[in-house]
Amino acid sequence: MQTTLKINGESWTLDVDPRTSLLDALRHHLDLTGTKKGCDHGQCGACTIILNGRRINSCLTLAVMHDGDEITTIEGLGEPGRLNPMQEAFVRHDGYQCGYCTPGQIMSATGMLDEVSQGWPSHVSASLEGDVPLSREEVAERMSGNLCRCSAYPGIVRAIRETAGEVSE
Ligand code: FES
Ligand code: FES
Repeated sequence: MQTTLKINGESWTLDVDPRTSLLDALRHHLDLTGTKKGCDHGQCGACTIILNGRRINSCLTLAVMHDGDEITTIEGLGEPGRLNPMQEAFVRHDGYQCGYCTPGQIMSATGMLDEVSQGWPSHVSASLEGDVPLSREEVAERMSGNLCRCSAYPGIVRAIRETAGEVSE
């Protein structure tokens, strides 16, 4: 079945089995292997991408459902020698060890900061309105869908808070 995806600003038309997940389409049909497969069940966040401006788990949706949709993967944020601020902050704050979860963490953090900028509250936000200060608790709650088996969470939280303009510790 044919589907056209706009990925990192480029249009790709694929002929895929309708059962192909978006994650497998990215990794196996387009060689965009920066997006990782951890659980393949929506539990770990390793496969997080931005779809039409919202962060999603790409393992939980089918490629053919996204004809014409705009997708950003980790490859679209930056590359070696030209990292974006979130990627730089992860490096600076040791926000990883093995690095397997890192693309998903960075994509999720990018989508999460956009949600914060739009004033979306989280379960732990003190108020449902107004600016949301990105405390450690806020970041932990909003990133709770992204697991790190290496437990690099302190560095991940520092990197995200610094990128958001919160005080770095
Ligand atoms: S691989 Fe998609 S959530 Fe784990
Ligand atoms: S850095 Fe190893 S799983 Fe997160």
